[in-house]
Amino acid sequence: MRKTSVIIGFLICVGSISKGQNLLAIPDTLSGSNFNLNIYDTTHVFYAGYTTNTFGVNASYLGPTLFLNKGDSININLSNKLMDTTTIHWHGMHVSAKNDGGPRISIPPNTSWYPRFKVRDNAAMYWYHPHLHMMTNLHASLGAAGLVIVRDTIERALNLPRRYGVDDFPLVIQSKCFDAGKQIVINNPYDSVMMVNGTINASLPTPAQTIRFRLLNASSERVYNLGFQGNLAFYQIGTDGGLLNAPVSLTRLRLAPGERAEILIDFTGKIGQTLNLMSFASEFPNAIYGASQPGMGAGQVIPGYTSNTLNGSNFKIMTFNIVAQTVLPVTTIPSTLVINSPWSIGSANAVRTLTFSPQTMGPTAIQGPFLINGASFDMNVVNYSIPLNNIELWSLTNQSPIAHPFHIHDVQFYITEINGAAPPANMAGRKDVVLVPAGQTVKFITKFLNFCDSKATYVYHCHMLPHEDDGMMGQFVVTCPAGVGIGEYESKLREVAIFPNPTENKITVRLNADETIETIFLYDYSGNKIIEKNNVHQSEMVLDLSAQSSGLYFLEIYTTGRIVTRKVNLLK
Ligand code: C2O
Ligand code: CU
Repeated sequence: MRKTSVIIGFLICVGSISKGQNLLAIPDTLSGSNFNLNIYDTTHVFYAGYTTNTFGVNASYLGPTLFLNKGDSININLSNKLMDTTTIHWHGMHVSAKNDGGPRISIPPNTSWYPRFKVRDNAAMYWYHPHLHMMTNLHASLGAAGLVIVRDTIERALNLPRRYGVDDFPLVIQSKCFDAGKQIVINNPYDSVMMVNGTINASLPTPAQTIRFRLLNASSERVYNLGFQGNLAFYQIGTDGGLLNAPVSLTRLRLAPGERAEILIDFTGKIGQTLNLMSFASEFPNAIYGASQPGMGAGQVIPGYTSNTLNGSNFKIMTFNIVAQTVLPVTTIPSTLVINSPWSIGSANAVRTLTFSPQTMGPTAIQGPFLINGASFDMNVVNYSIPLNNIELWSLTNQSPIAHPFHIHDVQFYITEINGAAPPANMAGRKDVVLVPAGQTVKFITKFLNFCDSKATYVYHCHMLPHEDDGMMGQFVVTCPAGVGIGEYESKLREVAIFPNPTENKITVRLNADETIETIFLYDYSGNKIIEKNNVHQSEMVLDLSAQSSGLYFLEIYTTGRIVTRKVNLLK
């Protein structure tokens, strides 16, 4: 299937040998409303003298960072130039199921997929990554992923560092396993090479002022206990899908696969110093991938796990070399940020209970596969039908011996409870991934807004990619209220632009970019069909009425989600 030699399984990986520091790579950026993303087979140099096979998105490892503005309508042309089928999911973004890129979408080799949607997300960092069923870990590990930074007017009004690559840095944290030929190996407990933005032994000249880091744990399995050498305090300002109400001062931040966090750290007065970003994994309790024991008790074994030196120890992720201030530095930490208003528990119209368990019991239970409510992912099963606008309380109980980061598509949620207690302040914001510790119950509340489609599914799953690939995933649809067709409910309320009207000959019909015209009819005043166009699949089209005589006409427009009629006045 794949031309390059990707090794899956268990063999000795070779640790990080280079001692020198490498300048942190900062992904390129793209902005505007049209994005061309090409996924292709390529190679990347992680180690001098070696070429490593990778999957690139416009670059050899990790794609461009897409800068989007809330409210913009965007069009993406995603061309799959790989030898493999893949798909790309907009992790954390609130888009219709058809645009979501989950495992029900597939982009065969040499074809393109054209997602288009309006950006409805709050300012935060999201990410895109492959999601082909059973192949997510391989494709994501090979590098076919990138970041999305959304800005909005609320965030823009705050005095925060936001100069990308100057005082606002994305840090994509990954642990990897390389074989002796420096090829990426997946599903291996020797993921002992740390990289940030694809750079091994990364270092960054960082100005001596308030710096914003946008952290993503894009590792396949590893959880980090982030902190700075010397226990320097930092402030978490944002969670997966938005800013917190106020900065939260921390010295440790646990980040599980799929999770993001935005932090501010004040490097003022530290010129000349070198500071390491660390994972203090020795402080982890058991039963987290990264702790000294990955399971509850020593009885649970992952072969090879204990010989990976990252497990249960404190290790460096990257280095900051503090240099002179930039012009116009931000030197303060704001005292308040945004107002999050979680739905009240009393407002929930449904409670869903999900229980995680291993497929087999005993000492190898920790190796998976894992089940949700006793079942493994089935492409043909829709596990939940959720009425549009439902407010739901999801209760996740982990009866397996290892913590699982649970992720749901479509929505952001608020954690209401972790093991019976309210979430800590730094987890009280908008989230799309939550780590459910072994033996505990975590609850969240969310609302299924805007998009309904009884056929196109969204998924929820564990974001430890081998667990996801092994079937720790389920599907849901959001169903439309009576009288509303498949598609985007909200589009019923949106404008259809018809211009010029009156017209002398041509007329343009334009919808928002995330809704397309499928069929269009033009009737004359006595109801005779004059024009019929089928399979339009465009958001905008031009009709030529020059052959018709003056008078009133009716347009009947069938879109992806509704039927709209409008009067047209032809004046010659
Ligand atoms: Cu980041 Cu369904 O995934
Ligand atoms: Cu899991």
